[in-house]
Amino acid sequence: MKHSDTQKKLWGGRFSGSTDSLMEAFSSSVDFDWRLYSQDIQGSLAHARMLTKVGVLSKKDLQDIESGFQQILAEIEEGAFKWAPELEDVHMNIEAALTERIGEAGKKLHTGRSRNDQVATDMRLYLRGGVDNLCEILTRLQQALVDLAKAHSAHIIPGYTHMQSAQPVTLGHHLLAWNQMLQRDYERLQDCRKRINICPLGSAALAGTSYPIDRQMTSDALGFDLPSNNSLDAVSDRDFVIEFNAHAALLSVHLSRIAEELVLWSGGNFDFVDLGDGFCTGSSIMPQKKNPDVAELIRGKAGRVSGNLVALLTLMKGQPLTYNRDNQEDKEPMFDTLDTCTICLEVLAAMFPQVRFKTENMYKAAADGYSTATDLADYLVRKGIAFRDAHEVVGKVVGMAIADQVSLDQIPLSQLQHHSESIESDVYDVLTVEGSVKARNHIGGTAPEQVKMAAIEAAKLLAARH
Ligand code: ARG
Repeated sequence: MKHSDTQKKLWGGRFSGSTDSLMEAFSSSVDFDWRLYSQDIQGSLAHARMLTKVGVLSKKDLQDIESGFQQILAEIEEGAFKWAPELEDVHMNIEAALTERIGEAGKKLHTGRSRNDQVATDMRLYLRGGVDNLCEILTRLQQALVDLAKAHSAHIIPGYTHMQSAQPVTLGHHLLAWNQMLQRDYERLQDCRKRINICPLGSAALAGTSYPIDRQMTSDALGFDLPSNNSLDAVSDRDFVIEFNAHAALLSVHLSRIAEELVLWSGGNFDFVDLGDGFCTGSSIMPQKKNPDVAELIRGKAGRVSGNLVALLTLMKGQPLTYNRDNQEDKEPMFDTLDTCTICLEVLAAMFPQVRFKTENMYKAAADGYSTATDLADYLVRKGIAFRDAHEVVGKVVGMAIADQVSLDQIPLSQLQHHSESIESDVYDVLTVEGSVKARNHIGGTAPEQVKMAAIEAAKLLAARH
């Protein structure tokens, strides 16, 4: 069949010709927007209850609608519901099914609303749930990092700049740096949630409706903070999806950076971590391999989340007010971004407690890299030498140590004194990596004492979320 019967469509009245099957396939969105079914039913129930309260629907109509939706919801959840692509989208599929089951009252449901305010409401409800779920998993992941940071507050690891060993830091400090990125992500998600949680229902197609609707009632019933205050904006606005996706893109960038470090650390050149058998794969040809696929996939998935952000921004950029069908294209990027971030966070939250940090290797790498050179310079400054002069002296000491293939704390005092008379035997306190991290004992510093306090503060923030 090339054409389908337009009269069966919920908007078929003004049409005499039938829909081209190519058009039908092109315009249909139900194979992806079916995911909004529960929010759609929730929104319809709130709308029907409100219409009953203001006298537009009878109590009997409402009873029929409620029992119809109960049946439909159960059918969908059992997988028994038949989605019809020719009915275009989730909204018309559900409405048609309602009328099929309860007759007259089903036809009254759409009084005083449009799919334009309906879909905007569904999207906001769906995204609100998705963001809450993300925040819950994010909290678990942060908790895992903070617990690890407490356990490793005094273990020493090289700190890097330019991918070169720079100064020793504590592993706990490094883990809390990751937590800090995620803390900002959490705060950003919470902030955008405020702008997601606004109720467009009642804006109808674009201009509002002539029925005596109670918008506060539907907004409250659906757990929104307040009804939207401009009907034109409410049906066309997708800022909330874009804003969420922007925060999700940044979150994905953070996860990707963390994953990249795990890839590096698990490789032979570093050998700082064992990611756990449960989260690695072997090679089909090289029997010795244990590959960090989870971390690599997380790193790779950041690309699609940024891609979705670009898709959404581009989707909106040329749209005049108010609703345009372009907006149907907002769903797949939003679902994909939510799905991608959710699974990445789940996997990381499950993996971290199984990661084994090879603290002996970390320590050795930190001790090997002349990473206490800055401490020697600071030592000379404390003895009254200007920092630039001290820098020069230490440069020469490091040059000599490289030539002699010894570490800084292995250089005999007499040789050090050859470079500066201000150096005394107490210099060895600062040349060790332990001395170096211990000295950085200020807010935001890497000293074990500071890291312990920072971990306690971070844990308090997490506990306050519940
Ligand atoms: N499936 C549509 C969407 O996702 C629903 C709104 C359709 N509105 C309309 N006037 N055609 O945007």
